Amino acid sequence: MLDQTTLEKAEQIIQTNYFGTKNMIKAMVPLMRPSEPGARIVNVSSKLGRLSGRRNRIENAEERKKLENEELLSEELIDEVMETFLKEVKDGSWKEGGWPNVFTDYSLSKLAVNTYTRLMAREFASRPEGQKIYINCYCPGWVRTAMTSWAGHISIEDGADTAVWLALLPDQFVTGKFFSERREINF
Ligand SMILES: NC(=O)c1ccc[n+]([C@@H]2O[C@H](COP(=O)([O-])OP(=O)(O)OC[C@H]3O[C@@H](n4cnc5c(N)ncnc54)[C@H](OP(=O)(O)O)[C@@H]3O)[C@@H](O)[C@H]2O)c1
Repeated sequence: MLDQTTLEKAEQIIQTNYFGTKNMIKAMVPLMRPSEPGARIVNVSSKLGRLSGRRNRIENAEERKKLENEELLSEELIDEVMETFLKEVKDGSWKEGGWPNVFTDYSLSKLAVNTYTRLMAREFASRPEGQKIYINCYCPGWVRTAMTSWAGHISIEDGADTAVWLALLPDQFVTGKFFSERREINF
């Protein structure tokens, strides 16, 4: 029998973290003003959403490869992966689906944010000089917020540090990358 709570929770997490981020970017881009150093978008993600993570990745290599291939990446493809997962949650088959095994819905929502960051970086690259937008994502670490029931070991200020750094990077036109503690990490 369908566990309504599980489905509602998965839908809410994916809607908020992935579709919410995507809709916000789409709403904001036309409002971003051209600037010499380029406008910046920083998506808050998580290492739990790594494509290549050894312990918490999509186990199905074919599905993983589709999302890894930057040239083939599309919004439809990312949406389709989210919809396939939600469909499996609905019919109860998701546990055999080879999805990330820790915080599965949350991890997938962040994996979608990461891949969408890469996709948008590719799209923004064709914007003319002076109207560039640089987009990156980062993991804040385990931060003392409501999400961790205040049990994280990083202060809110330190958790925000890499985001602020990425937003203000002068003369470094880095885009489509994933960061943690001011360092680039693998997707
Ligand atoms: N804390 C960590 O250790 C950690 C680790 C990795 C990544 N992150 C990421 O960091 C970001 C911030 O998390 P946090 O730790 O600050 O979590 P948090 O303390 O739980 O705060 C989450 C914020 O998101 C808002 N929110 C939730 N659902 C929303 C919705 N549907 N529409 C609009 N706003 C909504 C909440 O608003 P209300 O207060 O009004 O409910 C709250 O302000 C998240 O993207 C999280 O995934 C956090």
